[in-house]
Amino acid sequence: MTDGGRLNEKRISHFLKNKNIRPKVYDVLDSTNAELKRRIRSGDKEYNLIVADRQTMGRGRLGRSFESPKGTGIYMSLLLVPGDTEDVLLITSAAAVAVCLAIRRLTDRKPLIKWVNDIYINGKKVCGILAEGVTDSDGKLNIILGIGINVIKGPDTFSPELDGVAGAIYEADDAPRSAHIVDRDELAAAVADEFMDIYADIGSRSFLVDYKRWSMVTGKNVRYLDGGVWHEAIAVDIDNDGALIVQSDEGMRTLSTGEITLRIV
Ligand code: BTN
Repeated sequence: MTDGGRLNEKRISHFLKNKNIRPKVYDVLDSTNAELKRRIRSGDKEYNLIVADRQTMGRGRLGRSFESPKGTGIYMSLLLVPGDTEDVLLITSAAAVAVCLAIRRLTDRKPLIKWVNDIYINGKKVCGILAEGVTDSDGKLNIILGIGINVIKGPDTFSPELDGVAGAIYEADDAPRSAHIVDRDELAAAVADEFMDIYADIGSRSFLVDYKRWSMVTGKNVRYLDGGVWHEAIAVDIDNDGALIVQSDEGMRTLSTGEITLRIV
């Protein structure tokens, strides 16, 4: 259900509309975010894109790991040097919308966003996003935008612990149908292009219209873990900075991206 081949730098370049992006493809890396961090130290430039077919130490939010098996996903990191520090807060939400737009454009799937930065299809997580900040040698804040997408899932793709919760754009049961073939080179390019289109005008926040439309959290009862304590609330809205507004017995609260774990109940 993928093209079956390896990720290919030339094909990704061919599919990219935005020619400022310079892709570099690896068969295996510890983590594309870690590799980009090393490259920043040796002077790597904005819009360099690292893509790997497998990660041995894929990193997730809150110190978790991100399983990144071979040949079934896309693990990519894009280097950004935002001029405006206000934009930094919006980058992960913008990336979530970009992933949804790319999947919608290239497949028949209708992904949804679980605040703040997870993408779900059929109730299972298919994509996670991790943006990390690093100061370069000129003292400028660089953002490493890491995106991991599970493209295809078979019975042995993930560890037993993850198998029940992790999904993919297509699962083995969906096969075989030609419509279920996903070209990972094309999808990687589409995600980067969709993100760059949003990023060019990120300050307008116009992408938040899609973010809200595809939010699977608003209107739902949620539990959120903040500072080691679980709270119960109703998710009411997404604000102009991509923060989640919740209502509970304690009143209204705005949860901004940081260190919060959220469950829909
Ligand atoms: C999460 O779900 O908690 C975020 C997962 C982010 C995974 C991506 S895969 C590409 C990039 N490299 C990493 O080590 N992590 C991100």
